[in-house]
Amino acid sequence: MMALKARQLTFGHLEGPPLLEKGELEIGKGECVAVTGPSGAGKSTLCHVLAGVIPRSLPGRVSGEILLFGDRLWDLPLAETVRRVGVVFQDPDAQLFFPTVEAEVAFGLENLCFPEEEMARRIGASLDLVGLSRYRCQATQDLSQGQKQLVALAAVLALEPGLLILDEIFASLDQQGAAVVQGVIADYKAKGRAVLLVEHDPENLPVVDRILHLAQGKLREVVP
Ligand SMILES: Nc1ncnc2c1ncn2[C@@H]1O[C@H](COP(=O)(O)OP(=O)(O)OP(=O)(O)O)[C@@H](O)[C@H]1O
Ligand SMILES: [Mg+2]
Repeated sequence: MMALKARQLTFGHLEGPPLLEKGELEIGKGECVAVTGPSGAGKSTLCHVLAGVIPRSLPGRVSGEILLFGDRLWDLPLAETVRRVGVVFQDPDAQLFFPTVEAEVAFGLENLCFPEEEMARRIGASLDLVGLSRYRCQATQDLSQGQKQLVALAAVLALEPGLLILDEIFASLDQQGAAVVQGVIADYKAKGRAVLLVEHDPENLPVVDRILHLAQGKLREVVP
């Protein structure tokens, strides 16, 4: 079973042309796939669609079929969706809502009603993974843009989603932060989970197994 399988996927915003027309996309377990393409091509919109954010929470036009670990994304309850797919959006400020780092990472776990002990374990483990343990009680707004991005990543990792979607995460990270994310991706692959990475910088592509290019409504595999 594939981690993600999209068939005949067409999507766009309510206004404007479709950003993808009848696209096919597969991500296997243990695979990291990158999506590149010009600014405005619809890469971030694709991330929203594949995570079910469009049309569940944001408006948009979507048709076709998306299977997440074998089940239709749009039929899954929200609690199950966030266990299967997690996204770190391009702009961390759009994703961070809580005063402290700990509260931010705890939120998703609280929503899923994890027992307190398991919650504490997962918060500790995911902050450890991104190297932010010592910031646990700090105000998120005092952190750098890159650190905020890592907090958003920790909050997603805490839910241990089978598919991790990272939208241009390297853009705001320094070398140390980039190494952290590359480690997270390697760990995901080793565990047989899947990663979708929106990325331009060839330096960050060695962790990637396949590259897709989104432009003018078409999604094509890039032959290296
Ligand atoms: N909420 C929205 N409503 C209508 N149109 C939108 C909305 N958000 C984005 N768009 C438009 O959809 C198109 C695709 O935007 P998107 O952010 O997905 O592109 P992108 O490939 O991620 O670009 P970038 O590389 O700059 O991040 C753009 O033309 C953008 O202006
Ligand atoms: Mg984008």
